Amino acid sequence: MKYLIPAVGLAALTGCQISSETLQRMEDQSKYEYYETSEFWADGRAMRTPPEGTFAREQLVGNPGLSTGRVGAQLVSAIPVTVDKSLLLLGQKKYNIVCSQCHGVLGDGNSIVAENMGLRLPPSLLELSERPAGHFYTAINEGYGVMPSFSGELNTQERWAVVAYVRALQAARSTRPGGESLPQENR
Ligand code: HEC
Repeated sequence: MKYLIPAVGLAALTGCQISSETLQRMEDQSKYEYYETSEFWADGRAMRTPPEGTFAREQLVGNPGLSTGRVGAQLVSAIPVTVDKSLLLLGQKKYNIVCSQCHGVLGDGNSIVAENMGLRLPPSLLELSERPAGHFYTAINEGYGVMPSFSGELNTQERWAVVAYVRALQAARSTRPGGESLPQENR
């Protein structure tokens, strides 16, 4: 290797051509083409299905509402991913790990950390049900006042999952037994 660089330099200096075979090899390396078959995978397909919950980069870049929680200066009003049981369970798990120590397990702002925080108390998230979904997403993604950003702890899917779970906490708090918002069979 030590001698290779001077050798290439010398070749360039003398106007000597590097053999085209040296440069061609990367193009010729073995690779799969679209829709080709593969013996490596049990289903015989070279093209793989992306793991559940992943986003293609293009989806995010072309979809600022999903990646930033805003379209232009406007906060997105609704959660832009499918809200189902698995998303809520993910949100519950992540909320309990990342948010609950300050905002409380119920989202009401009651927590040991809150009791001992001097600077500014973590607010209850339950009173904020009128705020658009993008408000919660941007708070997680960018931080809010003295609260730091948690974008390093949570990926895009997990951030929206936490927003969905906060919505569930808000709904749980405002729902009364026998109330209209409960499904018929649970009244
Ligand atoms: C270290 C404690 C701490 C953690 C952890 C934390 N927060 Fe906060 N959060 C705060 C504090 C303190 C504020 C108020 C900041 C201010 O007003 O300057 C706040 C503010 C907010 C606000 C804005 C409230 C408003 O008045 O509109 C939202 C939304 C929020 N947090 C959501 C979350 C979510 C979701 C998580 C988890 C991903 C989280 N927070 C994690 C301490 C925390």
